Amino acid sequence: MRGLICQLRFSQSLIFINFTSLISKETIQQIQNRIDIIDIIGGFVKLKKRGTNYLGNCPFHNEKTPSFTVSPSKEIFKCFGCGKSGNSINFLMEHEKYSYVEALRWLAAKYNVEIEETATSPEFKALQLTSDSLYIINNFARDFFANALLHTEEGTDIALSYLKERGFNQETIQKFQLGYNPSARDEFTQAAIASQYSTELLLKTGLVVNRDEKFADNYRGRIIFPIHNMSGKIQGFGARIIKSNDRAPKYINTPENEIYVKSKILYGSYFARTAIDKADECLLVEGYTDVISLHQAGIENVVASGGTSLTPDQLRLIKKYTKNLTIIYDGDGAGIKAALRGLDLALEEGLEVKLVLIPDKEDPDSYVNKIGAKAFTEFVKKEKKDFILFQLEISLQEAGNDTAKKSAVVNQIADTISRIHKTEDFTKRQDYVKRVAEILKIEETGLNALVNKIIRDKLTREEARAINIETPPVEEMPPQDELTLLLNKDEMQEQALVKSLLDFGMKEWDEEQKVADFIFSQFDDLELQGMIDNQQLVHLILTYRQWYEDGNEPSAKDFLYHENTEVSATATKLMVDSESELSQNWKKFYEGHISTREERYKEEVTSTLNYLQLRKIKRLIAENQMEFEKTTDPEQQMICMQTHQLLKKMEAEVTRQMGTVIYK
Ligand code: CTP
Ligand code: MN
Repeated sequence: MRGLICQLRFSQSLIFINFTSLISKETIQQIQNRIDIIDIIGGFVKLKKRGTNYLGNCPFHNEKTPSFTVSPSKEIFKCFGCGKSGNSINFLMEHEKYSYVEALRWLAAKYNVEIEETATSPEFKALQLTSDSLYIINNFARDFFANALLHTEEGTDIALSYLKERGFNQETIQKFQLGYNPSARDEFTQAAIASQYSTELLLKTGLVVNRDEKFADNYRGRIIFPIHNMSGKIQGFGARIIKSNDRAPKYINTPENEIYVKSKILYGSYFARTAIDKADECLLVEGYTDVISLHQAGIENVVASGGTSLTPDQLRLIKKYTKNLTIIYDGDGAGIKAALRGLDLALEEGLEVKLVLIPDKEDPDSYVNKIGAKAFTEFVKKEKKDFILFQLEISLQEAGNDTAKKSAVVNQIADTISRIHKTEDFTKRQDYVKRVAEILKIEETGLNALVNKIIRDKLTREEARAINIETPPVEEMPPQDELTLLLNKDEMQEQALVKSLLDFGMKEWDEEQKVADFIFSQFDDLELQGMIDNQQLVHLILTYRQWYEDGNEPSAKDFLYHENTEVSATATKLMVDSESELSQNWKKFYEGHISTREERYKEEVTSTLNYLQLRKIKRLIAENQMEFEKTTDPEQQMICMQTHQLLKKMEAEVTRQMGTVIYK
């Protein structure tokens, strides 16, 4: 065992040496000497001084009250909410998803430390070389196209006049470095080759194509939109046709290469970053021209997705700057559908997503030009809709009076809400459950139960995946009757506990106790109040217990004919309900088709208790969260955080038990 660990250590340090050997020890030393953790982390997180430390909202989990602490003297950060901690380099690696070497390079650039490289691996060198070359060619191309637009007759006559006609002014055109690729066959290609750029690399940039064994310009006769990365370097281009043409695509974009990765492109991010930071909001539009027009109108916190659904990488990019994402799309179907597709992911990432639809076949570009900057800003403010509720509205309209479609809507919306799970923001989720239940006119507890079930199922699947056993396929939508069942599940579970007690209370639990003993051992009077909402059921349980403690052996019949009419009424209702359709569903749902309730009463009791306990824990978590948000006393906050963690542990434990007991 010891030997194995040694070996592991040894090989790890080998990897480490290999890894860092790209940058010399001296350089690393120099970088480390200059590191100022407040300066570095402060570039990504708003920090406020608190005594000797700094405090901010943790960038690694969703929180409203800051628990992310940075200590300049110890040169470390620690979040008391999620537990993440480390030094400046760890922070960059975690937050920017940099490798160790990338983090060093970033720091070197920040502090003007010249990087001395030792034995670089050939592959790395080649990659570096290609990327650098592509950037250089793109720079050359940008200048060439800009010149063609502004200083050639063809450019000004055809392209510049078109841009001016659309309302773009000179300043805007220069800021975004717009250009024009002349319509001749290979004017750009010739210039590039004359400047000694290799054709292999030129082909890679997508600026040049091989047409009939001859190199030619790919974007002939098109307006050129350079695409900048976050630091302003040009990754690629979008090229727009001037006169629409059925045979040619409206835009041609750079093909994937070492520096242009489509899923990571957010057009305009370079120009928008500070404005996004300042506004603490990112506006997302579809197209290049939308970004540019809004900029020109003074609305600068805007980026474009390129008309496709948002990718995880794009969401991460946005999240670095803000949690507030406002999507502004035109009202036509395609755009919205594309936008909605990426959005469940945004919820998982803890982004607050809002939606604004531009009316009347306009897009943000044409609309801002039509109504002006001020009216546009006001329009956005007024029309901003909550994404989840918007989705619900649309689907409900589509469903009309069709009940099957309606239950599909319930499912879909529950699934969407369940994705808020990861953010640990229970208040937010609870709030949605409430509002959605209102709109759908269904029981809030039922919807909550459905959402919880989806989360539990997902957890079970994730767990299964984590321990590498065969994962059950993603669950189909539950059929209609199960859905009805689920929508009443909270109430059902309360009834189920009492029913278990009545039916099996006097059966053996283990050698020492009966089922009733076990159930009563799980809660005292006060806890029972927090576990069962229905007061009639509470009353029934307490009556049962009293009777049992008096030396009787209660049975279901005793309650049906109980002298207290309230008790007997409750018991009767319980029996009637469970003998009807409900119990059939119950059987199918909990027992599969294998065994009967009689055979599995222990499991029934355990799972019901687990469910009710989980519900109680969740309520406590929500209460605690509210407490946490209300209090300003740091000591009280600390207690809340500890309570939260404890409750989360309990929740995980109960959830785990449920995963193994109920669904097998
Ligand atoms: N797009 C693309 N390829 C196409 C069409 C569109 O890559 N063939 C992308 C572009 O990024 C474009 C965005 O989708 O900016 C939105 O498309 P569209 O609304 O058609 O274009 P606009 O940007 O509005 O351009 P314009 O206003 O000049 O019509
Ligand atoms: Mn447009």
